[in-house]
Amino acid sequence: MSLLSKGKTAKPGEEFIRAEAAARFLLKQTKLRPKIAVVLGSGLGAFADEFASAVRIPYAKIPNFPRSTAIGHAGQLVIGKVDGIEVAAMQGRVHLYEGYSVKDVAFPIRVFAGMGVKAVILTNAAGGIKKEFTQGRLVVLSDHINLQGVNPLSGPNDENFGARFPDMSRAYDKRFRELTLAEGRRLGIALGEGVYAALAGPSYETPAEIRYLKTIGADLVGMSTVPEVIAARHSGIRVLGISCVTNAAAGILDQPLDHNEVLQTAERVKGQFIALLRAVIPDVASAL
Ligand code: HPA
Repeated sequence: MSLLSKGKTAKPGEEFIRAEAAARFLLKQTKLRPKIAVVLGSGLGAFADEFASAVRIPYAKIPNFPRSTAIGHAGQLVIGKVDGIEVAAMQGRVHLYEGYSVKDVAFPIRVFAGMGVKAVILTNAAGGIKKEFTQGRLVVLSDHINLQGVNPLSGPNDENFGARFPDMSRAYDKRFRELTLAEGRRLGIALGEGVYAALAGPSYETPAEIRYLKTIGADLVGMSTVPEVIAARHSGIRVLGISCVTNAAAGILDQPLDHNEVLQTAERVKGQFIALLRAVIPDVASAL
């Protein structure tokens, strides 16, 4: 009996078979059976360096897994324990702007579904559009706007993953958001809450695009996360999204954007971000 198709009757498609092969491979590397997965964005990979009883598997060794090329992304999957809780963490993700298809970008989430993961915590670096979302601010995502022009669910639907038309009206789990905001208060970290707009990149936005995004209700802008959220919701995986505002979005301040600034801010806030993740993981585990 296959891992993903337990109780399912539809004939699995190619993507499903590829994800299942990767999930099987990963479960063979460890006795741990994580219910929570974390995707660590730019500069945040260090969190998984602290896992106990960890196995570290380079993406290149995982069957069918995409490899990340972006600077600041280590490109390995770590399965280990955080305060006794079994967690799978991606140190780096792949992005559309690297030339990957949206299905490749979402593929790791398909693999997590195959491993039995029930919750994903997606982190990223983002530009701040809302005035209060200044450099270094951590923001819990309440919703998103997909402006990437693509959707990982395009094409024939595989019922083994989920329904043809998944509901996205509660994509970012309310309970997880409340728990995270409470941990922020406890830790003295001033968290915001906001709507993330995803663009394809890799060029940063123009000031006119940022004015447009503000008008349509975006508080943050980035180039990731949304395909993963869509794939997760397709499979009934609950989602928590947290952005680190690494810079004011284009035109908000009178200065050009620079990827080094993004990395430097992520590095500066890393300690806080890791403290928050560490605090939130047990809460998420007990809410499952
Ligand atoms: N725009 C898009 N993506 C980003 C930004 C930004 O300003 N900062 C970090 N990722």
